[in-house]
Amino acid sequence: MDFSIKACDWSKGGQGTFLTGKSDCVVIGVFEAQTLSGPAFVIDDAIGGTISRVVKAGDMSGKAGSTLFLPEVAGIGASRVLLVGLGKQDEFGQKAYGEAVKAAWRAILGTKIAQVTFTLTQLPIKDRAGDWAVRTAILALRGETYRFTQMKSKPDTTARALKRIVFSCDAADEKAAKVAAKQGAAIANGMDLTRDLGNLPGNVCTPTYLAATAKKIARDWKLKVEVLGQRQIEALKMGSFLSVTKGSVEPPQFIVLHYQGASAKAAPIVLVGKGITFDTGGISLKPGEGMDEMKYDMCGAGSVLGTIRAVAEMGLKVNVIGIIPTCENMPAGNATKPGDIVTTMSGLTVEVLNTDAEGRLILCDALTYAERFKPAAVVDIATLTGACIIALGHHNSGLFSKDDSLAGELLDASREADDPAWRLPLDDEYQDQLKSNFADLANIGGRPAGSVTAACFLSRFTENYPWAHLDIAGTAWKSGAAKGATGRPVPLLSQFLIDRAAQ
Ligand code: BES
Ligand code: MN
Ligand code: ZN
Repeated sequence: MDFSIKACDWSKGGQGTFLTGKSDCVVIGVFEAQTLSGPAFVIDDAIGGTISRVVKAGDMSGKAGSTLFLPEVAGIGASRVLLVGLGKQDEFGQKAYGEAVKAAWRAILGTKIAQVTFTLTQLPIKDRAGDWAVRTAILALRGETYRFTQMKSKPDTTARALKRIVFSCDAADEKAAKVAAKQGAAIANGMDLTRDLGNLPGNVCTPTYLAATAKKIARDWKLKVEVLGQRQIEALKMGSFLSVTKGSVEPPQFIVLHYQGASAKAAPIVLVGKGITFDTGGISLKPGEGMDEMKYDMCGAGSVLGTIRAVAEMGLKVNVIGIIPTCENMPAGNATKPGDIVTTMSGLTVEVLNTDAEGRLILCDALTYAERFKPAAVVDIATLTGACIIALGHHNSGLFSKDDSLAGELLDASREADDPAWRLPLDDEYQDQLKSNFADLANIGGRPAGSVTAACFLSRFTENYPWAHLDIAGTAWKSGAAKGATGRPVPLLSQFLIDRAAQ
């Protein structure tokens, strides 16, 4: 799909080429119980008053999310008009805009329309600018069109009609809107990659497959990548990571992907992603029901790869390093057993009371490894705890940080990107739950506040840099009929890096 931007001044007759330009459909918004304004007023005039008649007759109430096609219109370059209800004008903000664009794309994707001129991006939205509207519209469209068919025996032959979209904007927003169009497409491409990786089964998306994907990204975008194997991981003394891979016949991989968009001297942002390509629980075996979903346990890793791909396509002026410890968590005769004690790369010893709390065991060594990059900040992303789903459900990712300013930045980015996160506590009081009689700490803290104690465990390995942890167990995928990976939190991370690059 091809996206472009065109500035248009509806008040001063500067809309000429916009009105006469050929397209299959022009999309315009209608507020509830309002007279027409801006694009709707001008287009109504040009096509002989059909819009006002339709609104007066009650066929388009302006209710949020409603749509109505006016076919065979004459007087403008477009052959159809799509009216989209926007709800109440004084309540028109981020949420209502999101609903309106989604409704518009759904209506259009149900037709053979190939070329669209889209004016909703030019509506005034509470607290958001024109470039935000463009980025959001593109991400909404790409979210609607994503399909995962690569594991079906027959290729997907349903051709998509929609090809070209021209977004209108105010002249003052034109430059930023063009950047936003590029960013929207890049973030969508990153999300598609993240979703594909999450949706691929564990027998395809192995640690080796994730490493090959990182290498492909490096080749395509001219980035530096290092992939360490079993021997090198042993040499680094990552005893905790190695204890998780022990029962698996798939070789573990430790992936380090470097994006350099700023001066080599600028401290990088390090993203660390949990890459368990299948989590059976190990000897602390999970129940069978729904265990297939544990193929998604590499979505943290997938979101790191998707975000770095997006950042590279956007060409952000920031340095980013992605670190991915990846392996399977399997039961076996030689697997790690409950009660085993392992030595982490940091030197701290851990009593593995439950082999199903494996994410923290691979992440802690990756977090220690991150120190060598003298990072400006480290954010780890992990499908870490079922408890996070109990606490927050599927809307908010769990955010943990002792650094208020880093947490604030991530929350701002999550709001702007419509990829919400909610901050949970990380007080030292919870550390007591990780006490072990035999080692420096235990890998579980009991049932109370399970997500908090998991984050507390990680915090013991992140004392030398600003750090935040995102628990995406509830947000990285959907269960039920629409089962599949969501591509979250690539929008949040991308926005965070866009904001950092602008500092
Ligand atoms: N990968 C799981 C967490 C998870 C559960 C993600 C459900 C998505 C959906 C993680 O490795 C795990 O098993 N965590 C345990 C920790 C417990 C043993 C302390 C959990 O959440 O039950
Ligand atoms: Mn587990
Ligand atoms: Zn897991």
